[in-house]
Amino acid sequence: MTDSDNDMKISPVKGTRDFYPEDMAGRNFIIDGWRNVSLRHGFEEYDGPIFEHLELFTVKSGEEIVEQLFHLKDRAGRDLAIRPEITPTLARMINQRVNSLPRPIKWFSAPRLCRSERPQRGRLREFFQWNIDVVGTDDVLADAECIFVAVDYLREIGLGPEDVEVRINSRSLLSDLLIEQDYSEEFLPTIFTILDKRDKQPEDVFEKKVGEIAGDEQRKKWLLELGRAKGKEGFDTVRRLAGERAASIAHLEELEKIFDYLEKFGAADYCMFDMGIVRGLAYYTGPVFEIFDKGKELRAIAGGGRYDDLLQLLGGPKISGVGFGMGDVVLSDVLEARNLLPTDSRSLEFYLIDADPAYFPRVLELVGQLRRTGRNAEFSYARRSLSKQLKAASAANAGYAVIVGKETEEQNAVTVKTLATGEQIQLQLESLTSFGIR
Ligand code: HAM
Repeated sequence: MTDSDNDMKISPVKGTRDFYPEDMAGRNFIIDGWRNVSLRHGFEEYDGPIFEHLELFTVKSGEEIVEQLFHLKDRAGRDLAIRPEITPTLARMINQRVNSLPRPIKWFSAPRLCRSERPQRGRLREFFQWNIDVVGTDDVLADAECIFVAVDYLREIGLGPEDVEVRINSRSLLSDLLIEQDYSEEFLPTIFTILDKRDKQPEDVFEKKVGEIAGDEQRKKWLLELGRAKGKEGFDTVRRLAGERAASIAHLEELEKIFDYLEKFGAADYCMFDMGIVRGLAYYTGPVFEIFDKGKELRAIAGGGRYDDLLQLLGGPKISGVGFGMGDVVLSDVLEARNLLPTDSRSLEFYLIDADPAYFPRVLELVGQLRRTGRNAEFSYARRSLSKQLKAASAANAGYAVIVGKETEEQNAVTVKTLATGEQIQLQLESLTSFGIR
């Protein structure tokens, strides 16, 4: 081999993944589960194009997403972008047919997305993201249902409330509380960012930043108390801080309703209130939530909330939606750490073996017959000893080894060995295609 041959070795792009067959088992486990759970909660599947006009994502996704766009130009010089999320596409698609769609619109999708992020643990440049959205109702029952869907999925794949938690807040509650304290509207994003980073930095840094914003000691105390509020106690604190203020009370009641519905759905044990959840994306206007591993050591597993203006901003009517996105990356890490991610998805039923190469043509005939009747059958390309073929059958994770030999020719029978137990029986050929079916 020459040096120039070596030069041609091209590695995968940083932040992307190759999925070998053993990796596909885990990926399919995650995505099949997303699909199953969506369907049983009454959501219909949709998908959109992998790239869109750039401005679809620059209108209202927020600075962070715009910075992370994979931006490209087509031959005519049009600005396009690979989708970093699917919510703007969902809004665009619903707007196109808004008058003919019965509401509420309950749709789900599991798109492949790209964000030009700095690759790090839990964040890649290409990933899959489950999306659950309910559009066309202001009722917070929809917010609760979305959270329930996420919790139901996590429970189904083996993650309990001791593994993961949904942290819920309301952006409108937070904004109203701050405005009622005379914080000006343009100041809110700065406060949101400080709260968003609350748990990612040391306590004293958080306190210092709050102090700089608040001005005097009393306001600092108020803002610290608000910013730290979480759990049942935190909720009571916020109620006290809200006092008699009507707007804040209305938002508190909205949150309370969501927790009530979650209780009814049997999902409340996964959920807690947390003022530190504000969400990065710019289009959220009401209740917001994020899902984390318990202890919040990893990046978010999922995030979502209510968006009141997105459809209108994209040329549609003023209808509200709520939903979330759950990525496959952190989720895989959480599952892997608990040994809950399968690495082999093969479900081979029969492995056909010749007792002697002379019987190989018969093996091929039986493989043909089994496969044509919908059974799952494999064999070895190379002619090898019986014991080597049996080993290959075990390595292929087959249920049964079927040995074709003299008795096949003389008595129309095969030997069937159940590989898990070693149990062996003689079986008449006419029973082979239905063998093991109950
Ligand atoms: P997001 O918070 O940007 O929201 O993403 C939601 C989830 O997608 C994150 O919690 C994470 O699991 C996953 N995710 C995001 N970026 C990456 C990345 N670079 N690598 C791996 N996973 C990632 C949205 O995208 C909203 N559009 C969700 C939504 C739907 N809101 C309403 N409906």
